[in-house]
Amino acid sequence: MSSNDAPAAAPEAASSKPAHILPAEHWAKQKVEEENDSDVSSSTASISESIFDYRSIHGRSFHSNKSTDAQYWTPNDNKQIEAGEIIHHLITLIRDDKLHWAPLKKDIKTVLDVGTGSGIWAIDFADQNPDANVIGTDISPTQPAWVPPNLKFEIEDATLPWTFPADHFDFIHMRYLFGSIPDWNGLLAQAYKATKPGGWVESYEASCVFRSDDGTLVEGSPMDQWGKVFVEAGKKFGRPFDVVGEGLVPEAFKAAGFVNIQTKDVKCPMNSWARDKKLQEIGAYALAAVDQDIEGWILFIWSQVMGWEKSEIEAFVVHLRRQLRDRKVHAYCLMRGVWGQKPE
Ligand SMILES: C[S@@+](CC[C@H](N)C(=O)[O-])C[C@H]1O[C@@H](n2cnc3c(N)ncnc32)[C@H](O)[C@@H]1O
Repeated sequence: MSSNDAPAAAPEAASSKPAHILPAEHWAKQKVEEENDSDVSSSTASISESIFDYRSIHGRSFHSNKSTDAQYWTPNDNKQIEAGEIIHHLITLIRDDKLHWAPLKKDIKTVLDVGTGSGIWAIDFADQNPDANVIGTDISPTQPAWVPPNLKFEIEDATLPWTFPADHFDFIHMRYLFGSIPDWNGLLAQAYKATKPGGWVESYEASCVFRSDDGTLVEGSPMDQWGKVFVEAGKKFGRPFDVVGEGLVPEAFKAAGFVNIQTKDVKCPMNSWARDKKLQEIGAYALAAVDQDIEGWILFIWSQVMGWEKSEIEAFVVHLRRQLRDRKVHAYCLMRGVWGQKPE
């Protein structure tokens, strides 16, 4: 297979090498290279639109933890919500327009979407299944008011004891909760309890570590450092970020008692470097989703957890933005769907 193809099979799990994180001041000392063979058209923002100009917490609005102790690491404003909606679109492309992989029966009635975000998955699911009652939960009330009549949103911290009755849901969906969950076994145990016998739970997570199979993503480059900083920060923050690389979700499904557990890994190219047309399109959306709000993805973690200064983050973002758009770097993000059934 050529290095320009992103193969479907899973690579090795996360590298076992110790993380080598360059000092924060490193990036300000680096020359900014001329752009070459890059996805220039996909760049949506310039560094002059600085996140720090309108700082509330770090210039952006974040989840308020007045009602719960949960901490969430991306802003809950429109810029980040739009990035999340691009991700929904790209995952839907990856999944050939399917909203789940679990083999659901046609007549399911009760559905839960944990950590629903903008509610976009729950809205689509409710539209496609008008006879199902769908609930989307989140710690932040960022969901729209105009939604299908069979969908409602509730504020609920998934890391606290759930308020739903036991044996209640036909299907529980959870997506993109990396960096939010201190105890994945505990989360899946609660999901198991709330699922009807015979019902399904499905998780879809992405790794925060970018990888390449042909060495074009080099150690010490901004995209390499992105993953290393996230992994290190997850240890300090008490909520792992490389949930996929660490294999936490399949283990948690097993520990909870699910049966018929399936795992599907996908490599999502990080820009349009792949030769395959569909992967090129997926890669263009992946780049757009990161590029739309790079600052939103890293601000809280880099400054509050890792202690970087504003100028150090700004310098890093300049280098990262350039590398993300470089088609000579064949980087991908490993994504993993896991689904399992509660025994009848
Ligand atoms: C990256 S977004 C994913 C949104 C949605 N699942 C999707 O895939 O489009 C993560 C969401 O999880 C929510 N979240 C974080 N910690 C949570 C918790 N303890 N309980 C419920 N929701 C949580 C955040 O507020 C955020 O909206």
